[in-house]
Amino acid sequence: MRVMEYQDGEALVCMDCGATHEPGGGVLVCGKCGGLLEVAYPRSVFRSVSFNGRGVWRYRSLLPRVERIVTLGEGDTPLVKAERLGESLGLRNLYVKFEGANPTGSFKDRGMTVAVSIALRFHARSVACASTGNTSASMAAYAARAGLRGLVFLPDGYVAPGKLLQAFAHGATIVRVRGNFDDALKTLLSHREELGVYILNSVNPYRIEGQKTAAFEIWESLNYTPDFVIYPVGNAANISSGWKGFKELVEAGLAESKPRMIGVQAEGAAPIAKAYLEGEETVEPVEKPETIATAIRIGRPFSWKKALKALRDSRGTAVTVSDEEILKAQIGLARMEGLFAEPAGAAPVAGLAKLSEEGFFKGDETIVAVVTGHGLKDPSVNIEPYAELTIHPGENPVEALRNLL
Ligand code: F0G
Repeated sequence: MRVMEYQDGEALVCMDCGATHEPGGGVLVCGKCGGLLEVAYPRSVFRSVSFNGRGVWRYRSLLPRVERIVTLGEGDTPLVKAERLGESLGLRNLYVKFEGANPTGSFKDRGMTVAVSIALRFHARSVACASTGNTSASMAAYAARAGLRGLVFLPDGYVAPGKLLQAFAHGATIVRVRGNFDDALKTLLSHREELGVYILNSVNPYRIEGQKTAAFEIWESLNYTPDFVIYPVGNAANISSGWKGFKELVEAGLAESKPRMIGVQAEGAAPIAKAYLEGEETVEPVEKPETIATAIRIGRPFSWKKALKALRDSRGTAVTVSDEEILKAQIGLARMEGLFAEPAGAAPVAGLAKLSEEGFFKGDETIVAVVTGHGLKDPSVNIEPYAELTIHPGENPVEALRNLL
């Protein structure tokens, strides 16, 4: 991991060529080689880490400098021991980090509180993102809170209705791109300067800084480092953020070890899992990504390089799951643990089921599934009631229920 030798706040470092950039609103990728940037801190930061308060800003000593914090009380989400689900999967120490409990219902709020606060530091007036739904919902909310204009580029169709409603409610301006997420992101990025917006997609390295706090919380809640942490992978920033967080805990002398990272992708949108499993150095884009888990319906993941590195450096693995397996996992999580996730959020559970069946685990490892978004986000998913009965007022339901169950 890169630790800077200078003393003055954070820097943006290219993960490919190592070039250092001064932080600024227009800096998105490496000015020298176009590589992805990462936020790096001076060595002194890791010598004086202290955690105070609650939520994302509890970890302020490992976050970039901000002047005004734009917060909705994000982070501090439950880490739930999943006994019944774990038993059904042959996993005795399974935990769920329920990110659906964030203010707008997904993990995106962790990154947004930091990146929107940074937008103010850089004196941005408008912020923008392309999104499969959750990023836009979160950005719209934080932009509203900060008094900034929000502009969201959405793929036409396939955005879950709950997420769309959130972006509308928080007053974002909507641009529908007749294409998929990859088209929407490309369109936004190629016009960002003319639009005069600060980009809040996860290509913005400050988003990852906020998102890494989920790793800090997992480690603090357990009081040790889990053996495995499993994430759904779309644009691949979140799994990269987790790996950065766990590395920083070791760097700060707090944790002794790092977990093995597992990435889950939907079969119809699995360029990273495929590259990892086939030992490829680069990712072959999927031109027409398809999955019911629309949040991760992405064929050209921006942060693929960071994610492949996280999987390899942590000696982790990747797995692909079908839509059917995702829906089964969604129901399992809801009915065995009381946790309702949107399909992408349930994908890690589907991944665990598959890996467990393949004999990947011994069974007693500590495993954390990061369940990224709330089930209420996506009412378009067809879930049948477990059992249902219609009666007239005054009619006795007892007999009919007996027959039904
Ligand atoms: N889970 C959910 C619920 C998501 O919304 C996303 C990404 C992911 C997982 C994947 O995270 O992209 O960092 O690998 N949603 C983005 C969006 C793309 O626009 O809301 P990732």
